[in-house]
Amino acid sequence: MASLFDPFTLKGATLRNRIAASPMCQYSAQDGLANGWHRTHLPTLARGGAGLVVIEATGVSPEGRITPGDLGLWNDTQAETLAPIVAEVQAAGTVAGIQLAHAGRKASANKPWEGDDHIPEDDPRGWQTIAPSAVAMGRHLPKVPRAMSSDDIARVQADFVAAAERARDIGLEWLTLHFAHGYLAQSFFSVHANRREDDYGGSAENRGRFLVETLAAVRKVWPEDRPLAARFGVIEYDGRDEETLVESIDLVRRLKAEGLDFIDVSVGFSTLDSRIPWGPNFLAPVAERVRKETGLPGSTSWYISDPAEANALVAEDKVDLVMLGRPLLENPHWPYAAARALGREAPAWTLPAPYAHWLSRYRAA
Ligand SMILES: Cc1cc2nc3c(=O)[nH]c(=O)nc-3n(C[C@H](O)[C@H](O)[C@H](O)COP(=O)(O)O)c2cc1C
Repeated sequence: MASLFDPFTLKGATLRNRIAASPMCQYSAQDGLANGWHRTHLPTLARGGAGLVVIEATGVSPEGRITPGDLGLWNDTQAETLAPIVAEVQAAGTVAGIQLAHAGRKASANKPWEGDDHIPEDDPRGWQTIAPSAVAMGRHLPKVPRAMSSDDIARVQADFVAAAERARDIGLEWLTLHFAHGYLAQSFFSVHANRREDDYGGSAENRGRFLVETLAAVRKVWPEDRPLAARFGVIEYDGRDEETLVESIDLVRRLKAEGLDFIDVSVGFSTLDSRIPWGPNFLAPVAERVRKETGLPGSTSWYISDPAEANALVAEDKVDLVMLGRPLLENPHWPYAAARALGREAPAWTLPAPYAHWLSRYRAA
């Protein structure tokens, strides 16, 4: 029976525990470049004791950013600004990962704390969005995207590949493709966003084609011994849930056949007409089902914050990793606090020596 503090090995990556920092956009970059904020934020999460830190949704192209403040990996300068951060995360004993993303029809938005809405059409800070079909998200995201041509599809897939090569070359050890949350890949799969009548729309097989092709193309350049993960919204809570789940599980099996190593189970967020049953650990049973029916290791997040409950999710074999977001913003040393709460004899082992040395004596006294 595994516990939260057992190591986890997947291909060439060994995480020191089952606690991962879920990707979290900081909306704090300019021109996609990492800066002092990212240089502090990401190593802080690693030094807090997480086994894996996944860098935020990082745009594979300028138009693929959610906001003008997103990180990017569409040029070499961006890779150069990320490289020392990757090294710092690794120096803390943490596996360094990144999430590559294209925001599709949700792109060209203001930062959450500056409105979270689409940048107005006539504002030069914004840009034309693209998506499988010319269907707007609605409400605060009213922009109607341009329906992608087959050239657009090939170009975006090439952008994912080029960004993956840059991630590979700066030593990132874990790659998560953002196939969730109503962004581009999720909208290809979504019946709410995809109205295409070509090979990329209609049947579940066709709606999954963009995701399968993108993953297969990335797998060719992403080293075989480094885990390739996908974060995928397997359910929308839109009343079509069992049908969507069955289609999603089938798609995850197809992704596995193309080289997917790990599935991070999330929500689709492709429609504003959903009734999500928010609550502690609410997605864990769904993640367990996806893991068991696909045979892939996996994780989930959303309101996992209690150490005993997080430990139980691992011990009861519901997930391989817990992905924590806001609990780590609140306390980057959550792994240390959890180790103490769970009665680990030497909880300070989760921290680097300059902290651990003092805390082990302080707590022993
Ligand atoms: C500030 C912030 C930024 C986020 N950015 C991303 C992101 O870049 N990619 C992603 O897949 N999820 C993103 N999310 C979702 C988190 O990864 C996580 O799944 C979510 O916060 C639920 O976990 P929690 O309850 O532990 O916070 C973000 C969440 C927050 C709070």
